[in-house]
Amino acid sequence: MRKKVVAGNWKMNLGFEEAEELIEELIDLLEKEDIKPDVIICPPYPYLEMASDYAQEARFKVGAQNICPFESGAYTGEVSASMLSSMEVTHCIIGHSERRKYFGEDDKMLTAKVNMALIHGITPIFCVGESLPERESEKHFEIVRRQVRHGLFHLDTNEFAKVIIAYEPVWAIGTGITASPAQAAEMHAYIRTLIVERYGEAPAEETIILYGGSCTSKNAAELFAQPGVDGGLVGGASLIADEFVAICKQA
Ligand code: 13P
Repeated sequence: MRKKVVAGNWKMNLGFEEAEELIEELIDLLEKEDIKPDVIICPPYPYLEMASDYAQEARFKVGAQNICPFESGAYTGEVSASMLSSMEVTHCIIGHSERRKYFGEDDKMLTAKVNMALIHGITPIFCVGESLPERESEKHFEIVRRQVRHGLFHLDTNEFAKVIIAYEPVWAIGTGITASPAQAAEMHAYIRTLIVERYGEAPAEETIILYGGSCTSKNAAELFAQPGVDGGLVGGASLIADEFVAICKQA
């Protein structure tokens, strides 16, 4: 039985004090509620240590939004996987469409990032998803297939078992346009067929696949109820404590 997961991607938002306030609010709300899924918050790098200090006593884990594909050394401005794991960071978003688009991250780099995370015991939350023109020209399955294969299918079965996948259609990110529950279910099922082909039935059944893109407390229940949708990767709504917790409650 797959575990439900809700992860909050804070992106490049909030000052330090605001971040700390949000964490304190989350701790209070998560304590009061009967929350079933694994909850992960992914604040910006400079807040990770603070977040993971709080996480020791809290009902959430901490993820990073990025990771360096290299081990250590002369890579100005980068943060290594070993630095993240030394701060008890348990997860890392890799392959987000914003990093693919604005920072030119290609399949080769993403493969290296996935490998580095796994070497250091960090769970990759590997993002895939098509753009609007790609969906309109009915290339969405082809695009997602390429992203999943190139980013993950070099892994052996044991390594692959440690990965979470997030399907985030680019046209749904920050737009208020959510994929319909049927569209999400269809793509999640498709991703699972790719995993069956590469790793077999059992690993495909075990893989956690999240949906991301304009996920809110209004649409989460229906999305998370779809077969094969194991929770969400939440952007904007993860910056508001009661909204994020309301989403967590629905997983
Ligand atoms: P929004 O929930 O703001 O659409 O962002 C989704 C996302 O990109 C999460 O990684």
